[in-house]
Amino acid sequence: MKKRLGHPIFQVVSDIIEEQGLTAFAIGGYVRDLLLKRPSKDIDVVVLGSGIELARQVADRLGIQNVSVFKNYGTAMLQYRDVEVEFVGARRESYRYDSRKPVVEDGTLEDDQKRRDFTVNALAISLNRDTYGELVDPFNGLKDLKGKTLRTPLDPERTFSDDPLRMMRAIRFATQLDFAIGEKTHRGIENNASRIKIVSNERIMEEMHKILASPQPSVGLQLLEQSGLLRHFFPELAELKGVEVKEGLSHKDNFLHTLKVLDNVSKMSDKLWLRWAALLHDIGKPLTRRFSGEQGWTFHGHDYVGYRMIPRIFRRLKLPMNEKMKYVQKLVLLHLRPIALVDAQVTDSAVRRLLYDAGDDVEDLMLLCEADITSKNEKRIQRYLSNFKQVRRKMREIEEKDRVRNFQPPITGEVIMHTFGLKPSREVGVIKDAIKEAILDGVIANDYDEAYRYMLKKGEELGLKPAEGE
Ligand code: CTP
Repeated sequence: MKKRLGHPIFQVVSDIIEEQGLTAFAIGGYVRDLLLKRPSKDIDVVVLGSGIELARQVADRLGIQNVSVFKNYGTAMLQYRDVEVEFVGARRESYRYDSRKPVVEDGTLEDDQKRRDFTVNALAISLNRDTYGELVDPFNGLKDLKGKTLRTPLDPERTFSDDPLRMMRAIRFATQLDFAIGEKTHRGIENNASRIKIVSNERIMEEMHKILASPQPSVGLQLLEQSGLLRHFFPELAELKGVEVKEGLSHKDNFLHTLKVLDNVSKMSDKLWLRWAALLHDIGKPLTRRFSGEQGWTFHGHDYVGYRMIPRIFRRLKLPMNEKMKYVQKLVLLHLRPIALVDAQVTDSAVRRLLYDAGDDVEDLMLLCEADITSKNEKRIQRYLSNFKQVRRKMREIEEKDRVRNFQPPITGEVIMHTFGLKPSREVGVIKDAIKEAILDGVIANDYDEAYRYMLKKGEELGLKPAEGE
């Protein structure tokens, strides 16, 4: 079978290897994506010989100055037009039990294909003139590609034990490409799940992000849970799984519920960190689960407990401890608040407070809350959604009226200090806070003069007098 290689780089490589009497192939993800008609920007070229040497020659021919050489790996990379091309010498690999770093020797093309993770990633296309475009497929990768199945070229026990990151990759590809994992390959993951501990959390998270960015992330999370991988790197999430029954009462399976919410959110938004918030929104439930005769199962405070758990989880998993984490924390903490506003009796002040607390993330919060409605009863879902419409309407009205969403109290600390002749001190904070609370509660309007008068009153209560000249 011959394939058309679309990119002009291949012709250049082909000319050079012809002149030098070398043999080279396009291989790996590029070939897979070409056959799947998916766009791909990374090209891997494998040569029987030195990858670094070939890269240098290709760069010379194309007038490219920058070649990144990774001597330890025997690879070299260059950027040509819109693609990154990596050159590697065909190699044979063997691994030690305690490391992902293989011992490498020169090898044949087939050795090189064997050392790869999945048959669909081991497909090669010839770049030599007389066989140009021919597929080299010793492990039936094409059949697996058509059957949408992930299988390892060698015994999966070996492929996964050699490099346990591949277990994450299997699940990521299954989710991203909508492929199934072959039975034996799946068993290989189950048997080697605990070896994931030799992989760094940074690498595991790269795959998690890709799973979460897929159209239906629950597919990957189910596989992570079923294969036993999840509990090794994310026990808090695995803990959500399961149902307990007491006195004939059960609670819902919070893992399945979480996956539904995650898929719901993913249908509405591509935002990665909103998807993380969906994944973590109920993470505090296992720690707050109680049963009582009167109330049945409750999870009081799971929003706050979840909010508190997130920094530890992010630190351990090497997720960014910055405004992205704060955003996830905020949504987890606030995820029950919009539901509470459904009540017709709800005061403007409650709505103002939520607008203030959520700030610019209020839309994402509403999206998460709507996604959180996962009842099996379609009528009930419709009722909730229409209630949410009311909440959104209330929010719009109040925001238009009071502009509290990005609200900064009209009286600054500077004004307070100047008025009472104070240095930075506790009193300044107390007065500032009191003004903010009074505005959010609707005691005073969001207006300089009213806030100024309120400040004088609060100052007086604290025994303060306006400074001379005020
Ligand atoms: N590979 C492997 N084991 C790994 C990583 C990569 O066998 N742990 C091989 C696969 O043949 C893969 C190729 O190296 O196709 C290139 O790897 P990479 O660029 O990481 O992945 P792609 O398959 O190209 O897919 P993606 O770009 O979506 O990550």
